Amino acid sequence: MSDAIQYEISIHSIQCSIRNDNNGMNHHSLLSILSLFLLLSSTCPLTLKTPSKADAVRVVWFRDHALRVRDNDALDAALTASRSTNKPHGRIVPIYLWKSFDSLIPIDPVTGGTASDVFVANALGHLNRTLNGGLSMGKVGTSDSHDMQTQFYADELANICSTTGASEVYYMESHDIEFEDALRENLKNIGLVPVSFRGGHCLLDYSSKAEKLPWKKIIEAHPFRSPLIPFVDYLLEQLEENPPSQPNPLGLEESIASTILSLVGDKKEQTLVSNPLAIRDLKDAVGYTKNRYCWGSSITTAWPASEEDAYSALQSFLDSLPQENADENQALKRTHLASRLSPYLARGLLSPKQVYHALLSSKSKESASFVRRICWRDYTYAVVSLFPDVVSGRPIREGYSKTKHETNDSETEQNKHLFQLWKDGNTGFPLVDAGMRQLASEGWMPQKVRLSVSTCLVEGLGGSWKQGMDHFAEYLVDYDPAINANMWMNAGCVGFDPYYVGTDYKRRPYWDKKGEYVRKWCPELQNLPDACEVAEAQRGIGTFRVDCLYEPWSAPEDVLQTAGVLLGDTYPHRCCDERSERKRFFQDLRKLRSAWASSKTDERGRDVVRLGRQQGCESIGMFTPKALLLGKSKRS
Ligand SMILES: Cc1cc2nc3c(=O)[nH]c(=O)nc-3n(C[C@H](O)[C@H](O)[C@H](O)COP(=O)(O)OP(=O)(O)OC[C@H]3O[C@@H](n4cnc5c(N)ncnc54)[C@H](O)[C@@H]3O)c2cc1C
Ligand SMILES: *[C@@H]1O[C@H](CO)[C@@H](O)[C@H](O)[C@H]1NC(C)=O
Ligand SMILES: *[C@@H]1O[C@H](CO)[C@@H](O)[C@H](O)[C@H]1NC(C)=O
Repeated sequence: MSDAIQYEISIHSIQCSIRNDNNGMNHHSLLSILSLFLLLSSTCPLTLKTPSKADAVRVVWFRDHALRVRDNDALDAALTASRSTNKPHGRIVPIYLWKSFDSLIPIDPVTGGTASDVFVANALGHLNRTLNGGLSMGKVGTSDSHDMQTQFYADELANICSTTGASEVYYMESHDIEFEDALRENLKNIGLVPVSFRGGHCLLDYSSKAEKLPWKKIIEAHPFRSPLIPFVDYLLEQLEENPPSQPNPLGLEESIASTILSLVGDKKEQTLVSNPLAIRDLKDAVGYTKNRYCWGSSITTAWPASEEDAYSALQSFLDSLPQENADENQALKRTHLASRLSPYLARGLLSPKQVYHALLSSKSKESASFVRRICWRDYTYAVVSLFPDVVSGRPIREGYSKTKHETNDSETEQNKHLFQLWKDGNTGFPLVDAGMRQLASEGWMPQKVRLSVSTCLVEGLGGSWKQGMDHFAEYLVDYDPAINANMWMNAGCVGFDPYYVGTDYKRRPYWDKKGEYVRKWCPELQNLPDACEVAEAQRGIGTFRVDCLYEPWSAPEDVLQTAGVLLGDTYPHRCCDERSERKRFFQDLRKLRSAWASSKTDERGRDVVRLGRQQGCESIGMFTPKALLLGKSKRS
């Protein structure tokens, strides 16, 4: 098994230098009209209209991938355009549009929301405070069709503009270029002026570059390993050559604060949307999941959701990194650190550029490995720009999509039963159960545990990666449609980069030497010793060590009893034999591959994957896990 992530952290180190960013823009220069033009011409592909009147009303539309006021090109542009040296100033109308199945009925408190909905609702509360209570929220319908969805948005925006007398709508675009193009067209058709900005959710803007990335070179750089590392190397080179602009300094500067406050309208704006929704009501409504599990308080406690909180999280993470002179041992220990920045990045309370620059200016050696992790986000979005429908669950390696693991098993009773055990954290595998319980409580797990629980579902319990993907979409506070879909497809071997097949979910990982993680989330196992010596039964000579905490099924009866553990009662028996199930899983996949036409594999036995959905796209042999390779072509 090749664990690219492990590899990344332990082998690679890059040189970070604090760049003297000559052509970068700091906030003050950004606020001048001149740099606005620079900014528009460099990051905004739209044709620039003549500068608008300073005293006009401008709508600033906050969206789910950029819930921030700093490093927000759209807000900056609206503020700049609205400020004038001669009074009166223009006015800013900040809005947020909540997608709701039926914009006319309130959100059903029984159905509730997702973990990420709760986070968004909390973040909106803080954003509203930053905006002096001026944030308006309206409900719009939701639809899978781009045409319908953009129509819903356009109708509501038109309504807001007609009530306020605004015509310009400022916003940050999402990664979904087709959607954004449709949206802009729609807004123009009804007479509005969209002023939109691309690329705020990544370090590079892949919307136009996707096809031009040297994918072939990247993929062939490591023919039998994940393309992740060569991709990150490529990206770092690009960033070195063309450093991303310096975002606003950390902390909300007085000048921005007062500009916002003086430009944002007062409370009478609340009636400007046709289906108003108060943040207070939204928080109540999304506080429950389908199972009536109360998210409201547990997510709020675990994840404070203001932009200041996001900065504190970034700052205290940077402070926690070992400094230059730290000894090797300490540095090693830190490699399994998690920054816990994911919800802030996923909902754009922090921009990747802010995190990137903050890491570059850190003195710690460890910051390099985190720079690379920020690049993993970009990797996902670069892949998604080749395969936009990945996000809605269409696999990249479609040849596998007919396996029973994906189509049939999900219908059987046995699958339902095992899936439920997995969701509830009752599989009998302590690491998996600890992770799934942390997920249910905090909406988050460390990456290493996500790798383990997803492997357990797909390889051990015969579940489908789609089931896992949907479950995570509901339970992850950092839910990111692109990352989540890619990672789950990889777990199911149908993604761009199935690098982590065969991840262990049974044995104790190196980062839980003391068993603290399992003891915290599976308190019923708390009193089990970490290890004990057991007599060799068969030959009756010598002893061997048993990891009682991680493999309670192998622990001697008396040890379990002393610890108050009764398997099948206080803690479940393990629900599958992980070795035989894994074997079966790969056997099934190999059988499927062996029936393929030769055009589906290359001469080295790797899957041939088309780099994009269109017929004309180039095909290439891609990294394919060893466990899937057949007979002769299997590398030793
Ligand atoms: C099955 C599965 C599903 C996942 N679903 C999501 C998801 O919905 N949203 C999400 O943000 N992450 C997801 N991840 C990736 C990863 O587990 C989380 O980003 C990470 O655990 C978040 O914790 P952190 O902020 O402490 O990460 P750190 O390790 O501190 O990394 C810093 C940042 O780098 C980015 N990053 C880290 N790992 C990855 C990765 N593998 N791919 C892309 N970007 C990465 C994230 O933005 C993260 O916040 C998933 C992983 C798996 C195995
Ligand atoms: C924002 O805050 C103000 C002041 O507290 C409040 O009146 C308004 O309803 C809030 N906005 C939303 C959308 O809830
Ligand atoms: C689906 O699964 C059931 C139960 O395992 C099996 O009997 C049936 O043949 C399967 N159907 C297909 C189409 O594979």
